[in-house]
Amino acid sequence: MVAGLPLTEAMIAVDLARRQAGAGAGGRMAIEQDHAAILSGVMAGVTTGAPIALQLVNRDHANWKGKAVPAYTTPRPGHADLAAAIKYGYDDIRPALERASARETAARVAVGAVCRAYLKTFGITVEGYVSAIGGHAACLEDMTFSDRIAYARSSDVQCPDPKAAAQMIAAIEQAKAQGETLGGIIEVVVQGVPVGLGSHVAWDRRLDARLAQAVLSVPAIKGIEIGNAFANAAKPGSQAHDVIVLGTSGLERRGNACGGIEGGISNGQPIWLRAAMKPIPTTRKGQDTVDLATGKPCTSCYERSDICPVPRAVVVLEAVVALVMADALMEKLGGDSIAEMTPRFAALRRATLDDTRMSGQPHLFWP
Ligand SMILES: Cc1cc2nc3c(=O)[nH]c(=O)nc-3n(C[C@H](O)[C@H](O)[C@H](O)COP(=O)(O)O)c2cc1C
Repeated sequence: MVAGLPLTEAMIAVDLARRQAGAGAGGRMAIEQDHAAILSGVMAGVTTGAPIALQLVNRDHANWKGKAVPAYTTPRPGHADLAAAIKYGYDDIRPALERASARETAARVAVGAVCRAYLKTFGITVEGYVSAIGGHAACLEDMTFSDRIAYARSSDVQCPDPKAAAQMIAAIEQAKAQGETLGGIIEVVVQGVPVGLGSHVAWDRRLDARLAQAVLSVPAIKGIEIGNAFANAAKPGSQAHDVIVLGTSGLERRGNACGGIEGGISNGQPIWLRAAMKPIPTTRKGQDTVDLATGKPCTSCYERSDICPVPRAVVVLEAVVALVMADALMEKLGGDSIAEMTPRFAALRRATLDDTRMSGQPHLFWP
């Protein structure tokens, strides 16, 4: 992180609290209230440019200390258990169970809060909401992104459509009663993005590809869609793209089906993506498995677990998206401090505007 960014533990705490709240959360949330202590890289509430170290202590660790932990030998379908047991040669699967736990996403949310603060300096926001849980889909077509986000924040399931939210809450209650879990769909929107982040010139610089990797790295996220990718796949080309028109203030787009990225480069529209989260694997209602200790068929065991972490995962996805966006913006701007970057960002914005007004100004290089 560059120097000169105001950063406090309280700023990070806001996002950590969001990861712990919401309908469908499990028992762990009652055990720990996450706190990230800033150990380095910040002096008097401002980043110094040195690496920032954040520490999150697992309070639950103390509850287990000195206790005999029973061996775990019944792999849960859908979790890392069996593949990891074979890969690492575990007799007791517990190391996989603990390491593959989405507990690690608390650290990513803390880092995401730092990135969010950096992006905010330049007027870029990264926010998400839930658009479906357990097959109950929100009706969002007529709602602006800003409204979606505002309504989501007052919903227990982070869903902007109150009618769908009520159905989602009822579905979570029903799943709880039946010992089931539920998945869903989360959408993330990045607003205020300038043109020119990412690149088409090399595969690993494409912004859409970088976002996809980050999003799919979140446990239980199994699919990503940028813009209207899947609906577009069924359309003829002349109806799938955001046509370029001359508007009153210059070049404008009709629609944002591409989700703000063309050729791996941000095109100045909001970046908009959807992520599919599977129903999580630890179900109170057991699933068929085989006990690795006895070699006999059995049902999977249940340990304290969420029912539907989809609402809690919104802030996790925001965090990983913020990390990629901050990275891409730093690459574009260069420099070691916010002060150095600020005029460069203003020039980038100006150049973008010049470009969309067809002034003919070259805008790819710093003035
Ligand atoms: C915020 C969050 C909370 C999660 N909570 C649980 C949980 O309580 N129980 C569970 O079985 N899986 C939970 N998961 C999902 C598992 O960590 C994940 O399914 C597992 O690590 C296997 O990885 P994979 O689904 O990506 O293949 C959670 C995921 C996220 C993002």
